[in-house]
Amino acid sequence: MTLDQLFGLAGRTALVTGATRGIGEAMAQSLDAAGARVILAGRDRQRLDQVASALEHDPVVLTADLQDPDGPTSLAREARASAGAIDILINNAGGSWNQALSDVDDESWDRTLRTNLTAAFALTRELAPTMAERGWGRVVNVASVMGLVGDTHSSAYAASKGGMIAMTRSLAAELGRDGVTVNTLCPGWVETDLVSDLHSDDRFQQRVVRRTPVRRWGVPADMAAAAVFLSGPGSAFMTGQTLVVDGGLSATW
Ligand SMILES: NC(=O)c1ccc[n+]([C@@H]2O[C@H](COP(=O)([O-])OP(=O)(O)OC[C@H]3O[C@@H](n4cnc5c(N)ncnc54)[C@H](O)[C@@H]3O)[C@@H](O)[C@H]2O)c1
Repeated sequence: MTLDQLFGLAGRTALVTGATRGIGEAMAQSLDAAGARVILAGRDRQRLDQVASALEHDPVVLTADLQDPDGPTSLAREARASAGAIDILINNAGGSWNQALSDVDDESWDRTLRTNLTAAFALTRELAPTMAERGWGRVVNVASVMGLVGDTHSSAYAASKGGMIAMTRSLAAELGRDGVTVNTLCPGWVETDLVSDLHSDDRFQQRVVRRTPVRRWGVPADMAAAAVFLSGPGSAFMTGQTLVVDGGLSATW
């Protein structure tokens, strides 16, 4: 098999949420490099335009706030209207609201679940039927190691990411017969704006390095490589799975 037959995405259209920066930006760049036309979705139009300017395959930029109840549905409709059928959905947008149990009020719980889990479900519900009709599709849900193990001040975030892992398995069961795979990618600690306060705290930063077998933090490109695999032809026999990319952190103690 050629590398193209395993990883090539020419002729495919991919929607990446949270593409303004960090992991989503890196995934958009790598999918474009593999040949896909990428639809970049996010809240900051200027930033999306900057990311798009570095892409080769006629990218599309769409703004959407996935916390809005109509956000995911309108995004899916606009994506189809601007680029036609979507072959690959990367549910990457997400946020972490690091809060102690007593500080997680109903609004904060809802916001976390809406952005990290409900939006991914709603986008999949909108876009997967066309993938199934066409007999080919990829859904990649970006969860977190925190969906597999617990930590302090993480109850809502961990619930949203654990929910994503469980949702992935059931959607895989439902969509597999139509050529649509659904997998979860679980990053460990990755240097992005999301965790910049923790990364700039020397003690915490070193603690992560000491506990991680490969002795470093992840970088967005580590996640992008996995996303290209999960989006491509070479992962056709893999569905409902959780691919953990964390430098070995969760495999050891
Ligand atoms: N960085 C890490 O250490 C780490 C670890 C595990 C999982 N993750 C997950 O990876 C994904 C990407 O995170 P990142 O580290 O690149 O963070 P980031 O904060 O740099 O990027 C997150 C992206 O999601 C977008 N987003 C957030 N809320 C949104 C909303 N309501 N509507 C639309 N877009 C919204 C942001 O604008 C941004 O583009 C997230 O789902 C995060 O939970 C990150």
